[in-house]
Amino acid sequence: MAPEIRYFELNTGAKIPSVGLGTWQADPGVVGQAVETAIKIGYRHIDCARAYENEKEIGDTLKKLFADGVVKREDLFITSKLWCSDQDPEDVPGALDKTLEDLQLDYVDLYLIHWPLKMKKGSVSFDPHNFLPTDLSATWKAMEPLYDSGKARAIGVSNFTVKKLGDLLETARVVPAVNQVELHPVWQQPKLREFCNAKGIHLSGYSPFGSRGTTWIKYDVLEHPVLVSTAEKLGKTPGQVALRWGLQMGHSVLPKSTNPSRIKENFDVFDWSIPDDLLAKFSEIKQERLLPGEFAVHETLSQYKSLEQVWDGEI
Ligand code: A2P
Repeated sequence: MAPEIRYFELNTGAKIPSVGLGTWQADPGVVGQAVETAIKIGYRHIDCARAYENEKEIGDTLKKLFADGVVKREDLFITSKLWCSDQDPEDVPGALDKTLEDLQLDYVDLYLIHWPLKMKKGSVSFDPHNFLPTDLSATWKAMEPLYDSGKARAIGVSNFTVKKLGDLLETARVVPAVNQVELHPVWQQPKLREFCNAKGIHLSGYSPFGSRGTTWIKYDVLEHPVLVSTAEKLGKTPGQVALRWGLQMGHSVLPKSTNPSRIKENFDVFDWSIPDDLLAKFSEIKQERLLPGEFAVHETLSQYKSLEQVWDGEI
């Protein structure tokens, strides 16, 4: 029997499944199978993005699973994200339409501004010559009608700091439902969590394993002694402990895997917990942002002259 999934409630009243399958770096030709495996195991939340260049294949898989009666659309929670090159308010509705066309859906459950970084329309690479100054309040004003129309059942942001969320809230009519950010035991972001809790914004954690295996990331979160010893004591894997930590902090977690046994392992996190004495050790872990987004920084061509500015000092 599939493990019973848990949900968090969004400020829209909708429920977000606490574990979602991440699809960043899930290659075309592989991602469809991963989504099918996950849904058959019991996952009900798939985290997508236009920028991952695999939404069409995910759409084909979803269509097949609906047709075969494996899952119903209304039982799934599908997230996607507005890419940086579509931040111009007039491009926002078309960007969601393109994602819906690729995913072969009438609506997404959540649509996020992917990065607080704007690029020229049509550009794909992070070449700083493509950068434009953001107007996040204007982009958000173009996101709000997507929520009103129901094409996006919730709207939110990704990679936003306390400062950027605070600025957005000054002009927002719709409070973002979610802020999706890097979150794992080595980058816990307690101040952001406190702020989001106070404003009713749900935090979702991407890279719950610190995107281990990515060539330019040298640190392996799952080898941290606190995770290894907690896993040993509980008879779980370090990966499961990383996810369970996130759930106990109140985050939804978005583990990426294309490996069937790890997809299964990552879903087996509901019927046990990390006891308080072991959880206390997590607050002693030295903190380090593992995905700092250096690509957004350029001395002259970017609005962000340093990582300090990208993250408003939260680094
Ligand atoms: P794979 O897709 O081969 O399973 P993140 O979700 O933080 O971005 O991390 C994704 C990376 O972690 C991928 O390299 C993925 O590899 C690997 N991974 C996924 N699940 C586990 C797990 N339970 N234990 C160890 N590594 C995992």
